Amino acid sequence: MKLKDRVAVITGAGSGIGRASALEFAREGARVVVADINTAGAEETAKQITALGGHALAVTTDVADPASVEHLVQATLQAYAQVHVVFSNAAIQVSKTVEDTTVEEWNREMAVNVGGIFLCAKFFLPHLRRTKGCIINMASVNGFFVEPLCAGYCATKGAIIALTKALAIDHGKEGIRVNCICPGYIDTGLAWGYFEAQPDPAAARAAAGKLHALWRIGKPEEVGRLAVFLASDDASFMTGSAVVVDGGFGSGLPPQS
Ligand SMILES: NC(=O)c1ccc[n+]([C@@H]2O[C@H](COP(=O)([O-])OP(=O)(O)OC[C@H]3O[C@@H](n4cnc5c(N)ncnc54)[C@H](O)[C@@H]3O)[C@@H](O)[C@H]2O)c1
Repeated sequence: MKLKDRVAVITGAGSGIGRASALEFAREGARVVVADINTAGAEETAKQITALGGHALAVTTDVADPASVEHLVQATLQAYAQVHVVFSNAAIQVSKTVEDTTVEEWNREMAVNVGGIFLCAKFFLPHLRRTKGCIINMASVNGFFVEPLCAGYCATKGAIIALTKALAIDHGKEGIRVNCICPGYIDTGLAWGYFEAQPDPAAARAAAGKLHALWRIGKPEEVGRLAVFLASDDASFMTGSAVVVDGGFGSGLPPQS
């Protein structure tokens, strides 16, 4: 029970890595605020946590909208009075080159992926200061190594790594830790959307595992367990880190056969 009685807010927890993380946090004793723009997904995650015997609150949230994030803060405090962990995980991926990306798509991707992290940090920091809490941001190996057909997405993930370090530097003296997670390919709807955007989706799906030294893509809970570690006292001297969980994606291209 590494997170017993902690209150954790997880954005994008209505599916994929966010849902798996919410379940891992609940298993470790946290009360989880499940924030997602997809109300049905958020409610399903909260239901699964309750079924485990845990405590959860689903809050419909658009992380790109300041009023919506302020409402998330109020709903969290109303339910649990305090907050110890904010895991900014929500993101979207536009699977296009710069030339093919519309101005609206670019602005929305920036607003959700980077703006959402800015807004959650801005509005939760006064409350995290009281608990000497922590922030975990979701970046990606694409913040270091870019891939074809996701230019804007890679730009947002690079920005998130820099924003994480800036937050860590500014708020470390207040006892607030800020780290980010950089996964390789993880088996979720977001990755499947990227495969579908490739010229040969079936070939892209089949080849994805071999981009990783372990010759497979990751499972959402393999990222969730890292998030638990970063949220816990076991990571008490970690801040400003971009922690890679990528099955060896960043170690170089493994042999393809
Ligand atoms: N799947 C991968 O291969 C992979 C790799 C590296 C990083 N990531 C990152 O992991 C995070 C989670 O992605 P995932 O793979 O679980 O995908 P996913 O699509 O299953 O989950 C993303 C969630 O974010 C929610 N969301 C989207 N826009 C939102 C908004 N404006 N406000 C609130 N919620 C919003 C969606 O409804 C969804 O539930 C993302 O930051 C993604 O970039 C994923």
